[in-house]
Amino acid sequence: MVSRKLTEMMREECRICILTGAGISAESGVPTFRGEDGLWKRYRPEELATPDAFARNPELVWEWYRYRRGIIRGVAPNPGHYALAELERRFSAVTLITQNVDGLHRRAGSRHVLELHGNIMQDRCQRCGAVSAAADARNAEPVPRCRCGGLLRPHVVWFGEPLPQQVLADAQAAAEACDIFLAVGTSARVYPAAAFPLLAIRAGAYLVEVNTEETPLSGEANEVLTGKSGDILPMLLAGTGEQR
Ligand code: OAD
Repeated sequence: MVSRKLTEMMREECRICILTGAGISAESGVPTFRGEDGLWKRYRPEELATPDAFARNPELVWEWYRYRRGIIRGVAPNPGHYALAELERRFSAVTLITQNVDGLHRRAGSRHVLELHGNIMQDRCQRCGAVSAAADARNAEPVPRCRCGGLLRPHVVWFGEPLPQQVLADAQAAAEACDIFLAVGTSARVYPAAAFPLLAIRAGAYLVEVNTEETPLSGEANEVLTGKSGDILPMLLAGTGEQR
């Protein structure tokens, strides 16, 4: 299923940039956002994942994030996450960009992860800006507070908020400099992340999509690998071993 061309291109000196989305964590049991069982079928983004929603009803927003934290605490990385961590060890120039806030890439052993949308297991104070590990266990108030008295919020990017600037700049630079760009388990609908694969092709990279379904990116990709990332990524990795 993985083409010969791709396995031949994947040599130690090639620069690989990977963008992951919710699909890579689906096999771990983390719900995706879009699609039949997607979170946004049951909940409306503007009621839960915006600064306005938090200002209007912080309790409701916290309830939603505690629910998601509960899911994430109970899951483990899957073979897709582990394959990407191994790819980082095997190749000298790998950049892993993720839209996921679940921290599963780091738990699988990836060391250099650009978390575009933040990390759900961290809190940030609205007043003093301090970032800390999720305080649910020691801070059971419906809307937890920082030591300074300010309201705590999840340290994630909400709709309408800017992405962390340095992370964004590093991700763009990696997309433009890579030889191979892998878009894995993302519906490629949320910008600016969705623009990275396009930047990469414009700069001459070979674009590979790994997804269970077609996306707006499929028509642009040089290679579309249809299936679960937990199956395909280990296969891709095995292919890189064969040629040496
Ligand atoms: P989506 O839920 O939009 O898309 C998930 C993609 O994964 C879909 O294209 C599925 O076909 C695919 N998929 C599902 N299971 C898969 C599997 N086992 N293997 C491979 N692919 C699979 O998630 P994202 O693209 O990550 O942002 O969504 C982007 C952003 O929208 C999220 O980061 C979040 C959301 O709103 C914020 O909260 C800011």
